[in-house]
Amino acid sequence: MEGFDISALKQIPRPELFEFEGISMTHYFTDNWENVQNFKARPDDILIATYPKAGTTWVSYILDLLYFGNTAPERQTSLPIYMRVPFLETAFPVIPAGVKLADNLPTTPRLIKTHLPVQLVPKSFWEQNSRVVYVARNAKDNAVSYFHFDKMNIGQPEPGDWSTFLKNYIDGKNVFGPWYDHVCGYWEKKKTYSNIHYIFFEDMVEDTGREVERLCSFLGLSTPSEEKERITKSVHFDSMKQNNMTNYSTNPVMDFKISPFMRKGKVGDWKNHFTVAQNEQFDEHYKQKMKNTTLQFRTDI
Ligand code: A3P
Repeated sequence: MEGFDISALKQIPRPELFEFEGISMTHYFTDNWENVQNFKARPDDILIATYPKAGTTWVSYILDLLYFGNTAPERQTSLPIYMRVPFLETAFPVIPAGVKLADNLPTTPRLIKTHLPVQLVPKSFWEQNSRVVYVARNAKDNAVSYFHFDKMNIGQPEPGDWSTFLKNYIDGKNVFGPWYDHVCGYWEKKKTYSNIHYIFFEDMVEDTGREVERLCSFLGLSTPSEEKERITKSVHFDSMKQNNMTNYSTNPVMDFKISPFMRKGKVGDWKNHFTVAQNEQFDEHYKQKMKNTTLQFRTDI
């Protein structure tokens, strides 16, 4: 973030949650709303859409390497992933709004990140038939990851203790609203909009190479196999954790003493957090919320 005094971000107070367009939000994602909704997508844009903590950074980095890994090596060593792949709806202090960063991207395609639920995605993406890569993660691990993220990130509301956070998560009272509606919304959209590639975090952990392969088919890329293998190695959890351009260590709003951004990267860490009672309650509610969808998740691999 050259040219910006990002250290000032350390001083900002935590934001409050409020209802906005039917979901819980903080002002960082609503202050630039009109410009977000009027964003002019292009047919070759690629929108990386996720519920927070589903593996956004992982897939962003894979796409960045697939498209620009060879053509722009300096990009890999000098530009953090969150600057290469702007976060569309952000209006953080000090740094330019996500829309502006996306507008100014010099690359083709432009890789753009959003956490907006499907009904709030700027309509130009659908009108332009832009490609959408959606990553979903099972609700339990997603909750655990989100809890640790909220604790370490002063740009997020205060999460309280684990049981308070979990209760709020079940009620959809966290930034970007309920997990259930988010994952189901994009799943439903796939039925009428064929340019969505729906990926599961658990599949990525199980076999990253296979998912890179599938991404290439969706994107129509004929990346040589050696290159795909190299990318698969570079995006391994341990490599990304070591890499200052992908581990968010350059981001001043995150306190790594509380929790690193690249925390565990596992399927099943929820078992270290949920009590038996919490798990039963969660499952009961989950069954209700997910009873009308064909969408299935694995909480173990
Ligand atoms: P954990 O907190 O469970 O470790 P997002 O990028 O959407 O914010 O998601 C962050 C989550 O994805 C974190 O989960 C992070 O560790 C995990 N993650 C990021 N890169 C990963 C990788 N290469 N392999 C496995 N998990 C990864």
